[in-house]
Amino acid sequence: MSDTELRVSKIRNGTVIDHVTGGQALNVLTILDIDGSAGEQVSVGMNVPSGRLGRKDVVKVEDRELSQSEVDVLSLIAPEATINIIRDYEVVEKLRVERPDVVTGILACPNTNCITSGSEPVESRFEVLPDGVRCEYCGTIVREQIAEHIESQ
Ligand code: CTP
Ligand code: ZN
Repeated sequence: MSDTELRVSKIRNGTVIDHVTGGQALNVLTILDIDGSAGEQVSVGMNVPSGRLGRKDVVKVEDRELSQSEVDVLSLIAPEATINIIRDYEVVEKLRVERPDVVTGILACPNTNCITSGSEPVESRFEVLPDGVRCEYCGTIVREQIAEHIESQ
């Protein structure tokens, strides 16, 4: 992409989450537990034109790498996303997200009686289905709006 087409400037060090499903950027920030209050440097492009996807979102986070759990949940809301690790302005690694078999943490079970919903420190664990996720503790299935079940951290 030429510099005249860049919506948000390049970053020096950090992670660029590219090819995010259009409209999902704010959910990506929620998964990463970023709300700006910790002084994080973040740039967001929403619904920018993309050859492959038509429209895409882009999230650039300085000085941050992603955990496997974060990438796993990301894959559920942005299956086409590319994770680019940037060091000294260069892309040093480019990964496609993969739909995992299981996601742990980050998503909250909607069943208030679930052991993961109580005050006990039990980390959530969901089996990934073709069309949703199923809590491994109580069997509750979440099919739609998975992003609405991201735990407040
Ligand atoms: N990027 C950035 N800062 C850098 C380097 C790259 O913000 N210092 C961004 C680019 O703007 C792009 C993404 O990281 O959104 C991937 O960069 P690059 O691999 O150079 O772009 P493409 O070849 O277009 O990527 P792809 O083939 O994945 O579409
Ligand atoms: Zn549950």
